[in-house]
Amino acid sequence: QTISAFVAVFQPGQVAVITGAAGGIGRATAAFCAARGMKLVLADFNETALLATADAIAAQHGAQILALPTDVGRRDAVEQLRDTAYDRFGQVDFLMNNAGRSGDGALFGDPAVWEAILDVNLWGVIHGVQAFAPRMMADGKPAIIVNTGSKQGITQPPGNTAYNLSKAGVKAVTEALAHELRSQPGCQVQAHLLVPGFTFTGMTRVPTDAKPAGAWTPDEVVAFMAERMAAGDFYIICPDNDVTRDLDNARMLWTAMDVTENRPPLSR
Ligand code: NAI
Repeated sequence: QTISAFVAVFQPGQVAVITGAAGGIGRATAAFCAARGMKLVLADFNETALLATADAIAAQHGAQILALPTDVGRRDAVEQLRDTAYDRFGQVDFLMNNAGRSGDGALFGDPAVWEAILDVNLWGVIHGVQAFAPRMMADGKPAIIVNTGSKQGITQPPGNTAYNLSKAGVKAVTEALAHELRSQPGCQVQAHLLVPGFTFTGMTRVPTDAKPAGAWTPDEVVAFMAERMAAGDFYIICPDNDVTRDLDNARMLWTAMDVTENRPPLSR
């Protein structure tokens, strides 16, 4: 059942809504969907990067793309995103609540930073699920909702407590959604938690959790990645301006969903 919904959804003409789409994992997934002939609704807080991403993907794949600057931490903005997506394309088959940010969320750190992290990473996912899922369920078709969690939300390493908490929350929301979907007879919507390990993107280009400040030399990056891979983390490199590479990376990304957790991804 898990596989058949994926087969139904990732098809030409189906509609993908992806938040945090201007960034590494979101952008890679957007390129992945465009290569399959899907229509895209791309949302991101960073308007300049979002428009550049939409242009690059449209140029490469000729995809129909609606790029909507959106702050996922605001409920009204996410509802507007949903309404615009349905007005324009009439359906949503794949929703990826992926926008995220890091920051110094130390246990005794600045409450404003905690709030900012939780607003995007946790509330962004809650808003996305609450705004979109009822409509997707009512449509009565196969559909997939993916929320981007993190290995840190499961292993809770010391350091960035606010980030860990936000991602633990994303897991809780996704489990609750999967349970809700399973309990609706005939519902063909699936919920999945994407659990990337360390992924080399804009967010982690200077991995502040591991090294306080300063650009890394290529040798340092390689050494750091080797160390983390040895520790069992999974790496994907998503260069911002290389859509072709992004496609390969997106394939790895979806593979990563199966390998980074020691149980199968949540499914119906
Ligand atoms: P990224 O920084 O390249 O992409 C994140 C995107 O989210 C950016 O384009 C940013 O503008 C956007 N964003 C931030 N705040 C927003 C808001 N309020 N509203 C809308 N968009 C907003 O980072 P990356 O790595 O691609 O992150 C994607 C997701 O993957 C995040 O949820 C992150 O927490 C998660 N993740 C990343 C890992 C990594 O190692 N890079 C590991 C595990 C999870």
